[in-house]
Amino acid sequence: MARMIFTGLSPNVERDDVSLALRLLVAPWAWVHGTASTDLERTVCAWLPAAHAFAFESGRTALTAILSTLGLQSDDEVLLQAYTCVAVPNAVLWSGARPVYVDVEEQTFNMSPDDLERKITPKSKALIIQHTFGNPADVDHLSAIAKRHGLFVIEDCAHALGSESEGKRVGTFGDAAFFSFGRDKIISSVFGGLATTSRDDTAESLRRLQSEFPLPGRGWVARQLSHPVILSVAKATYDAMGFGKLILEASKRLHVISKAVTPLEKRGERPSFTGKRMPNALARLALHQFSKLERFNDHRLMIAGVYDRELSSVATSGPGRPVIAPASSPGVRHVFLRYTVRTPHAEKIRRALKQEGILLGDWYDVPIAPPGVRQDLVFYRPGSCPVAERLATESLNLPTDIHITEADARRIAERFLATV
Ligand SMILES: Cc1ncc(COP(=O)(O)O)c(C=O)c1O
Repeated sequence: MARMIFTGLSPNVERDDVSLALRLLVAPWAWVHGTASTDLERTVCAWLPAAHAFAFESGRTALTAILSTLGLQSDDEVLLQAYTCVAVPNAVLWSGARPVYVDVEEQTFNMSPDDLERKITPKSKALIIQHTFGNPADVDHLSAIAKRHGLFVIEDCAHALGSESEGKRVGTFGDAAFFSFGRDKIISSVFGGLATTSRDDTAESLRRLQSEFPLPGRGWVARQLSHPVILSVAKATYDAMGFGKLILEASKRLHVISKAVTPLEKRGERPSFTGKRMPNALARLALHQFSKLERFNDHRLMIAGVYDRELSSVATSGPGRPVIAPASSPGVRHVFLRYTVRTPHAEKIRRALKQEGILLGDWYDVPIAPPGVRQDLVFYRPGSCPVAERLATESLNLPTDIHITEADARRIAERFLATV
C-alpha cells in the first residue's frame, strides 16, 4: 500500500527537529530561561526587517499584546475578516474590545476592501489584515481605507512568514504585525509567536507588557517538547494496525500533548497557558526551524506548481467549473502554507481520499474555525459574511509541506481528479 499522506500533524518536523527536542528534553535547566527568545527576536528583526520584535508563547498572545497597547474600551470595535481562526477574535475579546467581521474576496480568501468600507463605524479603532494561507492581502488598498478612518493597522502573518508583496515582506506594511510558530504554521515550535513593529511608541508599550508577562512553567514546556517526538512516532506507525492513531488519541486524552485550540477558547474564553513570554526551549526550536525557512517555502512553491499543472484540466474547464485553483495577484509571493482549492464536492473528495490514506486538511470549514467554535460567543452573526460562509463549505486544502514529494502531489491530484 502507498504511504500515508498527512496535511496536518506536525508537517514541518524533520529528524533534526526531533533530535533537538530530545536533547532539550534532557536539559531541563534550559527549558524556561535562556537567551534564545532574544536571539529569535533579533534574527526576525534583521530579516523582516523591523525595528522591534517581542516573543510570546503564541501568536494569539502576541496579537492580544499588540491590541492591549491601544487601551481599547468595551464598545470599541476591531475589524477582522471572517474565514479565520478563533484565536483572532478571541485576542480582540481578551483585549477588552468587540470583533466586527468583514467578508472576504472569493478568489484570494483575503479581506474585501468593499465590505471593509461598509463595516467601519465611528467605534472602529483597529484593523487586522490577514494574509490567508500565505497569500498576501491587498495591503495598500486596505491600509489606505484604514488610514482614512484613523485605524491602527495590524498584519496577521500567522500563515505568511516569507510572503512578499512588491518585493517587501508581509509584516512590514502596517503599524504592527504578528507571526505564529504554531505546530502547523510556516515554521513550528509547537507554540510560539512574535509581535513586530517599527513604531517606537508601540514598541515601548509592548516592551513593558512583555516584561510584565510571566514565563510558562516547566511542565508546560516539557509537554510542548514532547509533541514533535510523539507525533513523529505516531505518524511513522499510523497505518501499522492503527498503532500510531492509538498513540495520538491516548496522548491527547491523557493530556501528554497539547491541543492547538482548547475547549475554553471555542467559547471565547482565555486559557491559563496564554499571556506568557516565549520560553527558551521553544525559541531554540523556532530558531532551528527558521534556518530552514527558505527551503520550506521554496518547496511549498514547487509543490503548488505541481498541483497547478495536474489540476489545470478541471480547474480551468468550462461552465460550473468543478475545481477552482488558488489565485494570487501579480507582484506577490504567495508561500502556499496549504494549496487551497474550491469545489462544491469538498466533503466527498475529503472522504474518498481518506479511504486511500490521504488525509486532506479541514482548516476553515466554518467561518470562525475550528469546528465546535460557538460562533455567537465570538460575535459572529450568521449571514453577515456570505462569501466566507460559502468558502468554508467549498474549500479543501492540499498539503505542501517538506514531506510531500512531487510524486505524492501527483498522486493526490490524480486521486482528486478521479473523485471530482
Ligand atoms: C489566521 C490566524 N491568525 C492567528 C492565529 C493564532 O496563532 P497561534 O496559534 O500561534 O496563537 C492562527 C492560528 O491559530 C491563525 O490561523
